[in-house]
Amino acid sequence: MRDLVAETSLDVGHFVAPLFVREGIEEPQAIAALPGIVQHTRSSLREEVKALADLGVGAVILFGVPLSKDAVGSQAFLPAGIVQQSLRDLVADVGDEMVLMADLCVDEYTDHGHCGVLDGPAGDPHTSVDNDATLEVYGRIAVAQADAGAHVVAPSGMMDGQVGAIRAALDAAGHKQVAILAYSAKYASGLYGPFRDAVDCAIVGGGDRKAYQQDWRNAREAIVEVQADISEGADMVMVKPALAYLDIIAAVKAAVNVPVAAYHVSGEYAMLQAAAANGWIDHDAVALEHLTAIRRAGADVILSYLTHWFAARTA
Ligand code: PBG
Repeated sequence: MRDLVAETSLDVGHFVAPLFVREGIEEPQAIAALPGIVQHTRSSLREEVKALADLGVGAVILFGVPLSKDAVGSQAFLPAGIVQQSLRDLVADVGDEMVLMADLCVDEYTDHGHCGVLDGPAGDPHTSVDNDATLEVYGRIAVAQADAGAHVVAPSGMMDGQVGAIRAALDAAGHKQVAILAYSAKYASGLYGPFRDAVDCAIVGGGDRKAYQQDWRNAREAIVEVQADISEGADMVMVKPALAYLDIIAAVKAAVNVPVAAYHVSGEYAMLQAAAANGWIDHDAVALEHLTAIRRAGADVILSYLTHWFAARTA
């Protein structure tokens, strides 16, 4: 009877698996703070995505770890960049069965670790991210990812005007069908720590992202950000992280009529794994409770490192 009247269900079709692919490695590399998640080689990525497709997962989102980094993050938009090469692989393997998403940002690709181009020397306290110069770079990345076969690009840098700039660049290049999943309400959270190890990203000079990510003391700002992204052409909007922001997910769901995604981020996954490994909580019970809560709050789409586990469990 509990099942009969349950208001919320978890379906593998709503999950997106975040995957890391690293250039220049021969074997997948474990990520210490994300047990069970690896930096893939191009070929192990192909195997993992085929396995996910067989389990019924409908979408993946790629993050690249390039061999070389520079001031603007060129490996993010060069055709030979690791994500562009991997997208071509995946289009050939599963392009008709799976939605292929690409994270669109430069923090994994810049030698200073910020999500945009800088207006001065890295590490200098007077240096800022140059918002508008960054938009030009984001446009190039979007076109490169779409050329390589991405169905969805997901800008995560929180630059003002990024969705509009990317939409214009995609349309001008003939990619009118490529959708934008905007990381619209992205908070300057401490929960991204394990991710930064996963992509070998550190901010030079020890800075932070508070100049472009949201303050977690604020809720209403999230709605402003989401509305701006939708007016610029976002097809889906995201709230990130998820569990500490269920109120934001619910408010966004009530305020908009586009699909709402939530990113259950690396630190949320890491806390669960660590407590479960110590025998302090029951992994499966808490994982299901957390994922269901994210859906209950209103997320249509969940990005989570638990995707493979969940899909295997329900297959
Ligand atoms: C930026 C980006 C980040 C994450 C996704 N995209 C890191 C950041 O903003 O510092 C974090 C995801 C996670 O913690 O799982 N490219």
